[in-house]
Amino acid sequence: MNPTVKIDLQEFARRRRELMRLMESNSIAILPSARQQCRNGDVEYRFRQDSDFYYLSGFTEPESVLVLIPGRPHGECILFCREKDPLLEQWHGKITGPEKVLELYGFDDAFPITDIDEILPGLIEAKSRLYYALGSHLEFDQRIMGWVNSLKTNQQSGTRPPGEFVHLDQFLHELRLFKSKQEVKVLQRAADITVSAHKALMQQIRPGIYEYQLEATLLHRFMSSGAMSAAYPSIVGAGDNACILHYIHNDTECNEAELVLVDAGCEYQYYASDVTRTYPVSGRYTTAQKEIYSIVLEAQEAAISMIKPGNHWNQPHEAAVEVITQGLIKLGLLTGSLEQVIAAESYKKFTMHRTGHWLGLDVHDVGEYKIQGEWRVFEPGMVTTVEPGIYIHPSLPQIPAKYLGIGIRIEDDILVTQNGYEVLTADLPKDIQQIEALMTAASVKRHC
Ligand code: GLY
Ligand code: MN
Ligand code: MN
Repeated sequence: MNPTVKIDLQEFARRRRELMRLMESNSIAILPSARQQCRNGDVEYRFRQDSDFYYLSGFTEPESVLVLIPGRPHGECILFCREKDPLLEQWHGKITGPEKVLELYGFDDAFPITDIDEILPGLIEAKSRLYYALGSHLEFDQRIMGWVNSLKTNQQSGTRPPGEFVHLDQFLHELRLFKSKQEVKVLQRAADITVSAHKALMQQIRPGIYEYQLEATLLHRFMSSGAMSAAYPSIVGAGDNACILHYIHNDTECNEAELVLVDAGCEYQYYASDVTRTYPVSGRYTTAQKEIYSIVLEAQEAAISMIKPGNHWNQPHEAAVEVITQGLIKLGLLTGSLEQVIAAESYKKFTMHRTGHWLGLDVHDVGEYKIQGEWRVFEPGMVTTVEPGIYIHPSLPQIPAKYLGIGIRIEDDILVTQNGYEVLTADLPKDIQQIEALMTAASVKRHC
């Protein structure tokens, strides 16, 4: 197996410094970890750290709080975390504890989480600004209010609450939007694992296989490659299911003449990949499927070619919509001129989602798409998906039967570079001939 690639400690420290540079003097930022979620009874969901918290700390335990106080003489970066507890560790695994945290993570101070009520109000006191993602952690919001109010009610004793609350997201999410060299390496590994999983899946497809069996192939390849989970529930939709955008039941049998749309990506070292391909169950696309597939592929290539520094975020989408509309007019599925159909947005009955989104620690990653009401321009280090699709839902009226139930999306992950772009998922075939050749070779092998 390839050696693990991960973000190093220096990078987490650099991110904290960058955020603190954006904060005003005499201010404080507070970030809680994610909460452990109960599934039922004594069973918990596997814990996944909050992306903002992880981005700044690299710390993966629950019940933790990160506090940043730029310019504080006794230390700027403070972590509250669980203390070591042999009984709890016997049941749930290792707890690092404040002493070891100081040694391992490069914070300036670390305290038991049980001491937070005593310590944090004193750190908030008399700060002019408190940076916090209000509304994102409902229970923690109450605790923040409690600490702030305790300072207010104590005003007679001379304490002062912070002067102003500032939304942390606008600063932190702008940092997260631009990926470092290390982040690109991790994203590339997530992309590589996802590509290998799609290739394995593609070679399993045959009439009679169930969607969940194909999903199992993905998950097996993800986990055996060191990705602990999918970045989002995998979509494996055969036949009409391909026209349901967020289909995740994955419980249907794949039939001979159908397509199967597979939208799946792993999460590796907290970073997501997000890839879609649409395969013919028989190993060969029908003529009607080829007609629609070719339009989507051309749209995707046109969209990708729009990605370069200086072009704006919506240009790939506009290029994709134009190719799709033109193609559907040519097939007689839309009527009117290109301009008329685009102005009336009648193409939306066949393609109803946008052509991409930022990608990073979250599959739909953070970062603004518009700045002061205008589409923002691409800059090196941004990572986006490009994922046009055409969905001909069986309920649509007046559509030739040969097209009904065809749902096709093609999605890749793209890094914006100095001069243009790099496709992180380029190793996964998307040409009709390449896909058919790989599937045929696999089928021949199965029958030998
Ligand atoms: N997999 C979700 C998306 O493509 O946006
Ligand atoms: Mn996707
Ligand atoms: Mn996507």
